[in-house]
This record gives sequence, C-alpha cells and structure tokens, in this order.
Amino acid sequence: MPRPFVKWVGGKSQLIKRYSSLLPKTWARYYEPFVGGGAMYFHFKPERAVLNDVNLELANAYTVVRDRVDELIEALHTHVYDKDHYYGIRDQSPEDLPEVDRAARTIFLNRTGFNGLYRVNKKGLFNVPFGRYTDPTICDERNLRACSELLQGVEFRSADFERAIRDAQRGDFIYLDPPYAPVSPTSDFTAYAAGGFDFNDQLRLRDTLVKLGRRGVQFMLSNSDAVGLRALYEKQGWDVQRVRASRSINSKSSRRGKVYELVVRNY
Ligand SMILES: C[S@@+](CC[C@H](N)C(=O)[O-])C[C@H]1O[C@@H](n2cnc3c(N)ncnc32)[C@H](O)[C@@H]1O
Repeated sequence: MPRPFVKWVGGKSQLIKRYSSLLPKTWARYYEPFVGGGAMYFHFKPERAVLNDVNLELANAYTVVRDRVDELIEALHTHVYDKDHYYGIRDQSPEDLPEVDRAARTIFLNRTGFNGLYRVNKKGLFNVPFGRYTDPTICDERNLRACSELLQGVEFRSADFERAIRDAQRGDFIYLDPPYAPVSPTSDFTAYAAGGFDFNDQLRLRDTLVKLGRRGVQFMLSNSDAVGLRALYEKQGWDVQRVRASRSINSKSSRRGKVYELVVRNY
C-alpha cells in the first residue's frame, strides 16, 4: 500500500524489481511525464514529484484522489457491476460532470471495462466494452486513502510531455514510459488518447531528452525494442539495455510472451 488505483496498459508493475537497480542513487525532484497507472511512482514513493499524463480523465482522477478522496469514495459507492449501468455511465460526457463524479466515472469504467483498457474513438469518445469479472472491486477504499496521502504535495499536470518536463533542473530525475512504438508493422498499437503517439513524437522525445541531458537532468526511458528506435539512442552515447518483459497487450495468448524492452539512461 499504496498501489496504482487504475489498471493501465503498459503498467510497469512486473518490471519494477528489474528497474530498481537501474535508478540513480539520489535525485532532487522526480518527474514522470507519462504516468499512466503510476506503478513506478507508487512503488518508489518519491517525496518531491511532478506527475503528468496527457489523458485528461486520468489527470482529473489523480487530482480528485489527492484533494477530495472522501467525496470520491462516496461517489464510487453509487456504482454497481452491471452491464446496463456500465453502458449508461460510458455514454455520459465526462466534461459535463462535476470533477468528483468525473473521476468516479473514470475509475468505475477502468475497474469494470474490458481488460482495464482506455481507448477512445476518432471523436474522442470512450468505447471500451463491458468486461467480464467475478465481483470486481469498484471502490478500494483503503488503497484510495493511502494513494491520497502519498499524493499530498505532488504536483499533477496534464500536458504534452515536452511541456510537462521543461522546468526540470540539474539534479532532477525523469522516468519516461511513453506509449510504445509498434515492434512490427502488424502489431497492435494501443491508442491511449485521440491522436496517438507516432514516430515523429518518438523523435521529439529523443530531442527533448538531448536538451535536458545537456542541462544535467538525469533520465531513464523505457520503450519497445522497435526497429529504428535503438539507433536513435545509441548515437547519443547513452546506456541502452535490452530487458526481457512479458506484456499482455495482446488478448491472443500466442502473441504474449517474450517481448524485449529497451531501457535507456544518460547516467
Ligand atoms: C505506457 S503508458 C504509461 C504506463 C505507466 N508507466 C504505468 O505504469 O501505468 C503511456 C502513457 O502516456 C500517455 N501519453 C500519450 N501521449 C502523451 C503525450 N504526448 N504526453 C504525455 N503523455 C502522453 C498516455 O495517456 C499513457 O497513459
């Protein structure tokens, strides 16, 4: 306790042990610009942290967990695991809801939707179908309170990564876990937000890290071992390691299993 209060595709829980030996010994502030479910953040519990995700629903949920956890728990208790209720809530426009109900909606859909996916259509509407579970926990009160306590004093942003980390200073540490580039042209590429994250974003990310590195900011980046990505990093003289991971983005078990990830560090 506390642990991530949402399930998130690409969540790093399984790799934390492997990653912990790769983190720097000390840092001033911890930045995580693609925080998602925040497996790394909740595991390492850094005191001074700036967390960010471009997903507005997620950003609102973090802020409400931090600032209004009692009201959030009350709102979550109004939800039930039921197909019709799920589709009724899914059809609501989140931007029309007060922030606590909006956060409760996000957490409810995450706990009861298919595989905890977050996926939106071209119009930006959440379109994940109802998930099959046995008695899923919609409101884990104890964990939400523990998350709330830990998040006190944490700054939460909801911007594009480049903007979210531009005030990082010498001595700060940034952990980056962007949406993964597809490992082959046929593999699934999960859209986390309307717009996705394409190769130009990967280049922009690399260039942002070059600039931050020059200023003395330490970073660690995880990414898929996709064609073309490794070359981007090796040319910079950064430490690039291949780490074995098993991800479960694919629902077909034959396509799960041995997947390698890259871990890139500038220290
Ligand atoms: C691989 S997931 C991070 C998973 C996270 N490490 C965890 O443990 O759950 C990538 C995240 O990046 C966010 N994202 C996508 N494009 C972004 C951008 N341009 N700037 C900031 N965040 C972005 C997505 O909303 C998603 O939550």
